Amino acid sequence: MVQTLYEGKAKIVKDQENPQEVSIFFKDDATAFDGLKKDRISQKGFYNAQITCLIFRYLEKKGIKTHFIRELDERTFLAKKLQMIPIEVIVRNRATGSLVKRIGLKEGEILSPPVVEFYYKNDPLHDPLINEDHARVLKLASSEELSQLRKQALEVNNLLVPVCDRADLILVDFKLEFGRYQGEILLGDEISPDTCRFWDKYTGKKLDKDRFRQDLGEIIEAYEEVYNRLSRVINQESAFQSRPSE
Ligand code: TMP
Ligand code: ASP
Repeated sequence: MVQTLYEGKAKIVKDQENPQEVSIFFKDDATAFDGLKKDRISQKGFYNAQITCLIFRYLEKKGIKTHFIRELDERTFLAKKLQMIPIEVIVRNRATGSLVKRIGLKEGEILSPPVVEFYYKNDPLHDPLINEDHARVLKLASSEELSQLRKQALEVNNLLVPVCDRADLILVDFKLEFGRYQGEILLGDEISPDTCRFWDKYTGKKLDKDRFRQDLGEIIEAYEEVYNRLSRVINQESAFQSRPSE
């Protein structure tokens, strides 16, 4: 019997017959501000699943080790079952959101090299920002693992920034989660407009969950736009690479 292992705010994770695998299903539910704001956005799960599959396949092709195995249906993919590390790794290429609130940088300021942050995934504590010493005393990860998280997050950034740029998107910032699997650290969770900020390169229009957080409207239109732009760029690149040489 397939059991629900975990139901989160936006996803349902289920055990599979193979104990090393899980299925990850994307719901239409959206929450923000620690669950204070809640809604259901029709088709969000579809676009987040499709965008996550597209990006994970791309990252795998470029040598990043992820939990992604294969798509099961349009809202579900099969993944390796990780022992999750309770840290959110954030990479920021532009100052916005909580960073601007916390340290007063100018909105939209370019951060080069990017800023990497760790947050402790803990609902009662509201996911506080932590440093590497905090992660160590909390025994969340060893210092070697923490430097791997940082390194892998920056590698993902280096791969995604140019892809987004070709899709006329600025990859402003994003959140990653990692887990342990057979002695290795793999990239887990999702990469979608729920967990990234994308701004249109020319107009600065927000094309991500900030449209929900800030009541900007046209949420699903923005998710669809990100999907269309990224799939065009990524599929074009793989068609070019798989063309037989003349
Ligand atoms: P922040 O500016 O609110 O700290 O968000 C930084 C990035 O992390 C942004 O792309 C949104 C993403 N994020 C999540 O994926 N989950 C969360 O719970 C939060 C607070 C942010
Ligand atoms: N996902 C978080 C929440 O539900 C916050 C966010 O993405 O803004 O509160």
